[in-house]
Amino acid sequence: MRKIILDLCSLEKTDSFARKISAHLFPGAILLFWGSMGTGKTTFAKSICAGLGVLPEIVGSPTYTLVNIYPGDRTVFHVDLYRLNDPEELDDFDREDLITDEGVTLVEWPQYLLNYLSDEPVLNLEFETISENQRRLILESESSNFDILFKTLEQENLSLQKTANPLSRVGK
Ligand SMILES: Nc1ncnc2c1ncn2[C@@H]1O[C@H](COP(=O)(O)OP(=O)(O)O)[C@@H](O)[C@H]1O
Ligand SMILES: [Mg+2]
Repeated sequence: MRKIILDLCSLEKTDSFARKISAHLFPGAILLFWGSMGTGKTTFAKSICAGLGVLPEIVGSPTYTLVNIYPGDRTVFHVDLYRLNDPEELDDFDREDLITDEGVTLVEWPQYLLNYLSDEPVLNLEFETISENQRRLILESESSNFDILFKTLEQENLSLQKTANPLSRVGK
């Protein structure tokens, strides 16, 4: 399992980091966004979408539907299960209604989606609020499909740690 912890100290930092992640995504990638209300899951999802060529104005929280589908350079399924009280409410949904193998799937409040997953390439992103404009992000994956992403981030962190004022730290 690979793991990295980052401090996103501003909205701009969150945006540029999310866009960087989007460059490493591939058909069938699934990103699970963990963390409580207001920690920045939708904000991060929007920047990922922008990086995938989705028009920013069409990206929003899927409030009345559980899934929004955005066309772009890659199709994005944006799932938000916040309103789900009971996993049985998902019984009307087939896997292909919630997860795309051709595009990228982003899931907020993903707990009940876990039943649909087996060995897909999943990247877990856990968001925590540190202060008004600062978020901590913990990235974790057991899938080797994200190895290059983690290696790239670890290398960037190592070079950052050599500077006087490191912004992030690495864990394994
Ligand atoms: N560094 C940051 N990263 C992400 N969001 C931030 C940051 N600083 C402040 N925010 C604000 O926090 C809020 C996060 O809201 P949102 O993305 O809807 O959260 P969630 O989807 O987790 O409920 C937004 O108003 C956003 O502008
Ligand atoms: Mg949200």
